[in-house]
Amino acid sequence: MEFIKVTNPVQPHIALIEFNRPKELNALSVPLMSELRNALQDLDADNEVRVIVLTGNEKAFAAGADIKQMADKSAIDMYQIDQFATWDQIKKTKKPIIAAVSGFALGGGCEVAMLCDMIIASETAVFGQPEIKIGVIPGAGGTQRLTKAIGKAKAMEMVLTGKFLSAEEAEKHGLINRVVPVELYLSEAIKLAAQIAALSPIAVKLAKEAVLRSFETHLEEGLIMERKNFYLAFASEDQKEGMAAFIEKRSPNFKGK
Ligand code: HXC
Repeated sequence: MEFIKVTNPVQPHIALIEFNRPKELNALSVPLMSELRNALQDLDADNEVRVIVLTGNEKAFAAGADIKQMADKSAIDMYQIDQFATWDQIKKTKKPIIAAVSGFALGGGCEVAMLCDMIIASETAVFGQPEIKIGVIPGAGGTQRLTKAIGKAKAMEMVLTGKFLSAEEAEKHGLINRVVPVELYLSEAIKLAAQIAALSPIAVKLAKEAVLRSFETHLEEGLIMERKNFYLAFASEDQKEGMAAFIEKRSPNFKGK
């Protein structure tokens, strides 16, 4: 594994996955997400593992999908790369996944955290869907899961302006389980994992499946529409301009084309 680190077990029956692209703020490249999918598949099949904790580092959980890899892609390239096939493994995982988030959880990073079953955040965590600032929209569930978690008004503001949510606000609006001091976010997530790991693994899986069913009954339709629109954004000049401006470290000049 080059872009993630797996510690199994980190404590009895608990596996830890750490994103490991610190220089890129754990940007979620296609190879990184493939490694994550493989690790989740392996851990889901490992009878000794009961709970998985997913984390980044103190500065960044993940700052989104890799903009540099996407910048020059066409809508059809994006459709054919079909990176979401790997992302879908997160929600297919039967064992509980707890996200331990510190620093940036942006774009795809926020979406990965929301794909997990619970989120423990450090007081430095910030959550956001800033895709609009680079001429696209969330593509891995952000418009749907964020809206369900924090309500339409707040989600709309975040998705339309790219505004970040602090850990404290995220807790207030029900996006996360709790906020703890930065030095405790990982140990607190592992503590929560240990509580669950002490219970019947079968009942835990069944309970997770049932809670997700209630959450996702009407989600699939929304996700299909979101994915098409995400790909469609790559047909615009604004997407090229927005991503190029990010890479060149300048302000974008959007023309509505
Ligand atoms: C590629 C990224 C990146 C990203 C940061 N980096 N985020 N590279 N993709 N998403 C790189 C920077 O280019 C830089 O590389 C290095 O990481 C450090 O970042 P800085 O910008 O210098 O750090 P800082 O000034 O602290 O700003 C942090 C930040 C900013 C606010 C998080 O990096 C930022 O705005 N990142 C982009 C956030 C974003 O738009 N995410 C959504 C992506 S789209 P160099 O080489 O210059 O040192 C998305 C769609 C998901 O996620 C759909 C599903 C696929």
